[in-house]
Amino acid sequence: MKVKENGITLSVQKGVFFNPNMEICRDICSLAIGAIGKKMDVCDAFCASGVRGIRYKKENKNVGKTHFVDFSERAVECAKKNAKANGMNECSFAKEEVSRFLLCTDSDFQFLEIDPFGSPAPYIFDACRHLSRMGKGERYLSITATDTAVLCGAEHSACVKDYMAVPLHNELCHEAGVRILIAYVQKMGAQFNLHLEPLFSLSALHFFKIIFRAEQDAGKSFEELQELGYLLYEQKTLERRIMGKPFACERKEHEIVGGPFYLGRLHSEKLLLKMIKKNGKRKYAQKERIAKLLLLMKNENSLPPFHYDLHRIADRYSLNPPKTDAVIEMLKKKGFSASRTHFCPTAVKTTAGLEDVLKGMRV
Ligand SMILES: C[S@@+](CC[C@H](N)C(=O)[O-])C[C@H]1O[C@@H](n2cnc3c(N)ncnc32)[C@H](O)[C@@H]1O
Repeated sequence: MKVKENGITLSVQKGVFFNPNMEICRDICSLAIGAIGKKMDVCDAFCASGVRGIRYKKENKNVGKTHFVDFSERAVECAKKNAKANGMNECSFAKEEVSRFLLCTDSDFQFLEIDPFGSPAPYIFDACRHLSRMGKGERYLSITATDTAVLCGAEHSACVKDYMAVPLHNELCHEAGVRILIAYVQKMGAQFNLHLEPLFSLSALHFFKIIFRAEQDAGKSFEELQELGYLLYEQKTLERRIMGKPFACERKEHEIVGGPFYLGRLHSEKLLLKMIKKNGKRKYAQKERIAKLLLLMKNENSLPPFHYDLHRIADRYSLNPPKTDAVIEMLKKKGFSASRTHFCPTAVKTTAGLEDVLKGMRV
């Protein structure tokens, strides 16, 4: 099968994985690499057809050597052909299990792409160990999770087992899932003194994509862990409270606790601004959608974790669902900060509490 994606042509043989719906994810990651701007070698682990590694190189001048890894012989052969057909000469190919590859290789790459089927959890330890083994310097870890049903709480026990965290299976599930994934990666990294700062955290379609900046810093990795926390959520009133520790308080009948969550900022505003600029110059098929997403992410970034879904609140309090922008304006007039969020089209992120959001909805 021949595939075209943003100016590159790929042949994808039978038995080699290719999902055209993930084009937007590849677009956004490529933008992030360009926006980071530093010279970097890339490892496209889980490469399949090689589409990511090839696009990252072709679209960004700062990419040097590209390493392609997959345990499927067909995939590696396919990636080799595609890299050659697209004029790439600085590459290496490994038909190997990713964990084994990361344990044994002496190659240093500054951008490690982890794009497996389903959960990335089994590979995070190996990825962190490799990044740490490479020593001082800034590196980047890019992680895709397509096990969103697990992280969003539809499969509660799987989330507890895979991520050692309690998910929220309600209107906060996507943001909660992203924050569980970040916390998990930070916990894995900490044992290697790796400080992992999320630069970009996206929830879209059926996937989560997080790009971290990684550096060796025992102090910062310890501090990072102090900032993980929990959310106490009252299922009847929809009130919520962030807590440092889950068991240090009494719980009422309808309260549930989720977490541990990463509770800091989800994105780097500086990186998002550069990505917005770059997107303007690129000819991506979904350019406008990407522009809207990036702007939403920029606007939500400085607001507290966890949004208010106005439709959920309207339903609970027997109100007409209000216009999201009208509530945002109302909250701003009262002196609160407020914005839409990329996690949910009917939600607001705000510095206001539930009581003021309700007042804004009742006007
Ligand atoms: C989701 S696909 C990757 C998609 C690709 N990155 C893209 O954007 O089209 C996962 C790929 O990883 C390979 N794979 C799965 N588990 C692996 C492992 N543990 N080690 C090496 N390769 C693995 C599969 O053969 C498959 O080609």
